[in-house]
Amino acid sequence: MAGKTILAWKAGPGRGVEGDIEVPGDKSISHRALMLGGIALGTTRVRGFLESEDCLATLSAMRAMGVQIDRAGPGEVTVHGAGLRGLHPPAGSLDMGNAGTAMRLLTGLLAGQSFDTVLVGDESLMKRPMERVAVPLRRMGADVATADGRPPVRITGGRALHGIDYRMEVASAQVKSAVLLAGLYSEGRTSVTEPAVTRDHTERMLRGFGVPVASTLHHITIDPREPRACSLEVPGDFSSAAFFLVAAAVAGRAPLTIRNVGVNPTRTGLLDILRLMGARIDLVNERLAGDEPVADLVAHPSRLRGIEVPEALVPLAIDEFPVLFVAASLASGETRVTGAGELRVKESDRIGVMAEGLATLGIEVESKPDGMLVRGGKLKAGSVDSHGDHRIAMSFAVAAACAAGPVRILDVANVATSFPGFVGVAREAGLELTEAEVGS
Ligand code: S3P
Repeated sequence: MAGKTILAWKAGPGRGVEGDIEVPGDKSISHRALMLGGIALGTTRVRGFLESEDCLATLSAMRAMGVQIDRAGPGEVTVHGAGLRGLHPPAGSLDMGNAGTAMRLLTGLLAGQSFDTVLVGDESLMKRPMERVAVPLRRMGADVATADGRPPVRITGGRALHGIDYRMEVASAQVKSAVLLAGLYSEGRTSVTEPAVTRDHTERMLRGFGVPVASTLHHITIDPREPRACSLEVPGDFSSAAFFLVAAAVAGRAPLTIRNVGVNPTRTGLLDILRLMGARIDLVNERLAGDEPVADLVAHPSRLRGIEVPEALVPLAIDEFPVLFVAASLASGETRVTGAGELRVKESDRIGVMAEGLATLGIEVESKPDGMLVRGGKLKAGSVDSHGDHRIAMSFAVAAACAAGPVRILDVANVATSFPGFVGVAREAGLELTEAEVGS
């Protein structure tokens, strides 16, 4: 029987990384722009929107609930807000594809609607934990059901929500955001206390939409208010730039500039970690794009050394661990990551999948329930499986730049969920990467 065709890459040591590139818009901010724009009063104009599969799933969901969204040109989106109470029941279930952020944030937003909704996703998303958002939303009075903790998520509308003071168990910006979005629909004030600082795009954007949000280091409070439309400029995604920061350090032949990247301090933990490992990365032309800090990043070829990654930096670099494990493989000495158990429940088990791939390429690794020990060494040629995880696929493309021979990376189609055009940008930066189709 013929198997399905899967997309793979052949990657290898290229000419060396250098030059001047840009990366596409921020995924987290793009999702939030559509959601808040959709329930705002008035017209929200978004520039730099990430046209990736994940964000397009959010776009389709908002359209399915009656929000008119025009796509004027590349990255240009106009959202005609329906108002806080203006969404309509969708005709069927809402398919969020691979997008955990879309599913979890929308669960919060939908908890306050007058109609019922069902959220589903692809094979990976259908396995991911959803009780972490359902639990606080139920405490707010919502009716949210999961299937043994996983999707489909069924939200029964028409419930009167009330504000709560929620102490989160996991450091998750998605949980925080779901509660804050439900807080827009609640009677009284809603507060969230986080165990560690997580990305704060929701809080910043809510303020931009005129909603009163107060925050101290670990505590955020929102008062219900109808969001008012605004203009948004989405910066380049730091998590997409991350692959090139590591590539420039380990495979650079001259400095690499990455222009217009979001450098919100709740996202840039990798900068601190790479600097602790000996990387030289400069921020130039620092500025503000609306409510978000932006800069050009200049990454220099660097000799990296292994470190113990400070646990406080883990939530601030949570999406960057796959590529950090690659950096650790090419550093001198050992790198130890702990306190990162959340990596086990991302688009794939990012500890297990990275450990498997790096071991295949000849690196000594010890995976732990909450992290990994990586002994720096030399990468050899081989074939690795990304298990459909976009960030794993792109991380191995970076690893291949320093391998002794070609590296085949399997199951890479999901790179389109966060970084459409990755192959082109990677080649521009000096990585060697070609697409191939292989039978499974
Ligand atoms: C995100 C939060 C993080 C991150 C994800 C995007 C967001 O997830 O891993 O890619 O946009 O809020 P958690 O909240 O589960 O840590």
